[in-house]
Amino acid sequence: MSKTSTQAQITRASLVRQFALEVSGGLTKPWQKELPSKYLYDPVGSALFEVICALPEYGLTRAEERLLQLHAREIVDQLPRPVVVAELGSGTGRKTRLLLEALARWQSTWYHPIEISPAALAVLRRELRDINSISIVGFEREYLDGLREVAARRAPGEHLLVLFLGSTIGNFDGAAGSDFLRQLRQILQPGDSLLLGTDMLKPVPTLISAYDDPVGVTAAFNLNLLARINRELGADFKLPQFKHLAVFNEETRSIEMHLRSCSRQKVTIPEASISIQFEKNETIWTESSHKYSPEELISLARHSGFHCQEQWMDQSWGFAENLWIAE
Ligand SMILES: C[S@@+](CC[C@H](N)C(=O)[O-])C[C@H]1O[C@@H](n2cnc3c(N)ncnc32)[C@H](O)[C@@H]1O
Repeated sequence: MSKTSTQAQITRASLVRQFALEVSGGLTKPWQKELPSKYLYDPVGSALFEVICALPEYGLTRAEERLLQLHAREIVDQLPRPVVVAELGSGTGRKTRLLLEALARWQSTWYHPIEISPAALAVLRRELRDINSISIVGFEREYLDGLREVAARRAPGEHLLVLFLGSTIGNFDGAAGSDFLRQLRQILQPGDSLLLGTDMLKPVPTLISAYDDPVGVTAAFNLNLLARINRELGADFKLPQFKHLAVFNEETRSIEMHLRSCSRQKVTIPEASISIQFEKNETIWTESSHKYSPEELISLARHSGFHCQEQWMDQSWGFAENLWIAE
């Protein structure tokens, strides 16, 4: 066996160990069982997320695409040069093309997508390789680990533009979002930029159908997390015994996705060395998507060490693209 394939096996084993630890930690919480949303994105989850983005009810992706179509040139024209681009949770990078093409007009650019889903990263590399003057070096890493690596590689005088699109920041619960932005700011230098996509508060029925579509794609995306635990950790979740649920939490102004147990049942997860009892109607909380107000974004920028240089708003869906500069 070659050294590289042994290394790949060790890495794979430690990822599975980490997955088992986090599943066990989340499912043994005393009040509310939870699973980290990052595990929604295995190859099946990443493919389902692409379909979600095309659903008529999920207006978020199209709104951000409209904003970038209208303003990509204006955004990049405000950046100091030369600039290196890092993107957190890039997914397949479809919307990013608009920014990269605008940047490619005035400089050759390094673009570093940072993604935990190797499947999404592989699609991105294939889809964006035709853009002239853009060199892609991706990192299959967690957000801030990847960003530290990019920051460490930058040459003196180069500025960093961090992209965090798709309102993925809203997946951090409560204070975790501003803690994350503060940690991100620590990695940057004054004058670096963050382009942050944020979904805005809107009527609850619109939000619920965005996260519980009639075709059932979002339900499949959510349930795939249990299927992934079956595949990778040898568990015996019976998928028809769990139902997708999307609720709006008024207090946190977040859509929460849950998986509700349809009966009293026990599930065994051998790789995590646990058996879990579920009561009828008990839920597993799998993802939050916080919805923002304009004032909240201004104070969030200030509290995380940035100032908001400009904000572009899509009024038809309710989505903001925010250009923040590190102070
Ligand atoms: C909501 S999707 C957004 C994708 C894309 N940015 C867009 O706007 O369509 C979140 C992406 O972040 C990735 N992701 C989730 N948690 C991550 C983490 N901790 N570190 C790196 N990537 C992560 C997922 O694999 C997924 O592709």
